[in-house]
Amino acid sequence: PAMPLIDPFGRRLSYLRLSLTDRCNLRCRYCMVEEMDFLPRADVLTLEEIDRLAGLFIRLGTSRIRLTGGEPLVRAGAMELVRSLGRHVRSGALEELTLTTNGTMLYKHAAGLREAGVRRVNVSLDTLDPHKFRAITRWGKLDKVLGGIDAARDAGLVVKINMVALKGVNDDEVHRMVAWCGEQGFDLTFIELMPMGDTGFAPLDGPDPQDRFLPLARLRTELETRWNLEPSGHRTGGPARYMRVKETGGRIGFITPLTHGFCDGCTRVRLTCSGSLCLCLGQEDAVDLRTPLRRGDDDGQVMAVVRDAIRRKPKGHGFARPGGAVRRAISVTGG
Ligand code: GTP
Ligand code: 5AD
Ligand code: SF4
Repeated sequence: PAMPLIDPFGRRLSYLRLSLTDRCNLRCRYCMVEEMDFLPRADVLTLEEIDRLAGLFIRLGTSRIRLTGGEPLVRAGAMELVRSLGRHVRSGALEELTLTTNGTMLYKHAAGLREAGVRRVNVSLDTLDPHKFRAITRWGKLDKVLGGIDAARDAGLVVKINMVALKGVNDDEVHRMVAWCGEQGFDLTFIELMPMGDTGFAPLDGPDPQDRFLPLARLRTELETRWNLEPSGHRTGGPARYMRVKETGGRIGFITPLTHGFCDGCTRVRLTCSGSLCLCLGQEDAVDLRTPLRRGDDDGQVMAVVRDAIRRKPKGHGFARPGGAVRRAISVTGG
């Protein structure tokens, strides 16, 4: 490959998160408003454009690609793209091709994902209570997701569950989730709620957009009343810090953007579905790659734009600062 991408802070950027679509078949309250304005089709990269950009990033040293959204599997042709990107896994150029999904379509696609070269999937699941699931997602059916998770396991995919910690919403379920993931053999990561997008959440009816925020140190203290947590050196290259649960043998991870920074070790950039390269999830700054693609730049020229963009990668997010919320929805940036 060409010279790897190294940012001004000496971080090697080897992990690309690709958002396939800003659309989703659910509307989790903390993520989207009910009447979401989605991007016009013409603004969204075609699958061919995404495939080409992925190839260029791989030439620039990207060794892991995670497909996100929105919900990546609602994008028409998503599976064709996954199969196409799978060639980079087979050639050894990519160490890992993964997906972060809400799980609703896994019952259909799990086996195909595995065949295409995907080994792991991360599934968002904030509750195991069907009523609460519906309340959070607005109309989601928990059964469908649980069925999808079973299908993923049956297909031989390693599953990680993502649970956004929501004060007063799902904090009463953390023990149950640890027990369940332990039984199922799934890793579980808890995630601190980040102030992103104009979702009006908080209030399931209050004024403060972060009043559902739960610092994970508190959640961990609660967990330690019931479970023995031991250090685990497990790392995936991402921000999660893992512990082993002695009683279940399972792993739980903590993703703590607000309370315990992890940006010094950042390896990531994100490509939005409209072709903006976001240098950081928690900063507005982004560099347009769609224009160079569509005006016919050759590979070298597009790669030069990427290299140049990387110089703008900030040291870290500003979520914890006053006014540090990011207007761009997480469904556009891709988690
Ligand atoms: P692996 O480490 O590859 O298993 O994935 P992950 O846990 O990093 O990916 P996943 O898509 O499951 O991410 C879960 C959530 O963690 C994301 O949706 C974000 O909310 C948060 N997250 C992941 N990466 C970052 C990051 O670089 N910065 C910040 N602030 N949050 C992140
Ligand atoms: N803060 C933290 N995590 C979020 N997610 C969506 N919105 C937010 C937010 N504001 C999570 C989803 C999913 C992952 C892709 O991002 O629950 O697990
Ligand atoms: Fe990287 Fe930005 Fe996430 Fe920090 S917040 S880990 S710099 S993407």
